Amino acid sequence: MSQKQMITDVLMVGATGSIGRLAVKAAQRHGLRPRALVRDAQRGEELLPGVELVQGDLEDPATLLSAVGGADAILLTHGSGSDTRRDARAHVDYGGVLNILQALDGAKPRVALMTSIYATRSDIPGATPWKRRSERLLRASGLPYTIVRPGWFDLAGATQRRLVLEQGGTGDGGVARDQIAETLVRSLLTDTALGKTFELIATEGEEPSDWADLFGALKADESGSVDGVLDPFNLPVESEPPALRADLDAVRSLRGAGG
Ligand SMILES: NC(=O)c1ccc[n+]([C@@H]2O[C@H](COP(=O)([O-])OP(=O)(O)OC[C@H]3O[C@@H](n4cnc5c(N)ncnc54)[C@H](OP(=O)(O)O)[C@@H]3O)[C@@H](O)[C@H]2O)c1
Repeated sequence: MSQKQMITDVLMVGATGSIGRLAVKAAQRHGLRPRALVRDAQRGEELLPGVELVQGDLEDPATLLSAVGGADAILLTHGSGSDTRRDARAHVDYGGVLNILQALDGAKPRVALMTSIYATRSDIPGATPWKRRSERLLRASGLPYTIVRPGWFDLAGATQRRLVLEQGGTGDGGVARDQIAETLVRSLLTDTALGKTFELIATEGEEPSDWADLFGALKADESGSVDGVLDPFNLPVESEPPALRADLDAVRSLRGAGG
């Protein structure tokens, strides 16, 4: 899917969040240089002492241009959870990914995107298609990616450290926040994670020891498809609103841009 990339500088989107803070630590543990996108510099300094900060707002595309500059990789764990606006998911969960991709201006960093185990579910009360739509943007972008759909945060006991990676969007379960963060960072550093989308839960057992095998056992998404390889056909692109199809076209058109 892409040539092997040397990854050092990682833009962390959602870095002040409950997963983002752990992802910053995981990136540091793996010798990467995280740079945190923050809306509020003071909050960033408090939550992420000593971490390089870059100020920006996912809803304000102009503020993202310098944030993405020079990033070898981007790790996205942002979310609109605490935002009470009715359309927050469209603006933040989806619009944030769109704006980041458009800010890249031809650069081709590796991307790890966290969405949700319910991303493709239409039968779960409260589930919306915005995270799935954000995934579609990333696949359409042609960037080298991994999409991680975690189950319920920290709804796994202390001895449930065996990670189970599933595809098809039918599973359920919990996983510890630190394991989500570790999986996201590992996905940036492991070739067998490229072009893959999976749900992530934990069961009784030991931590993974061979990440290449863990990711390698998964099916890759089909080239040219905007959906995960085993995703249910319950949100046809052809039936999506014209504005969203136009976003996909706009992102596809970025493929040829830059070097
Ligand atoms: N709870 C679960 O069990 C579960 C399971 C699977 C998936 N999820 C998904 O995980 C996400 C929540 O993860 P979390 O707990 O890490 O989130 P969180 O603690 O609520 O953090 C959200 C992050 O997004 C950032 N953000 C929000 N709007 C932004 C904007 N306009 N510009 C820049 N940054 C922005 C926040 O920055 P500020 O610090 O500036 O606010 C914060 O860093 C949700 O989307 C949820 O759907 C949750």
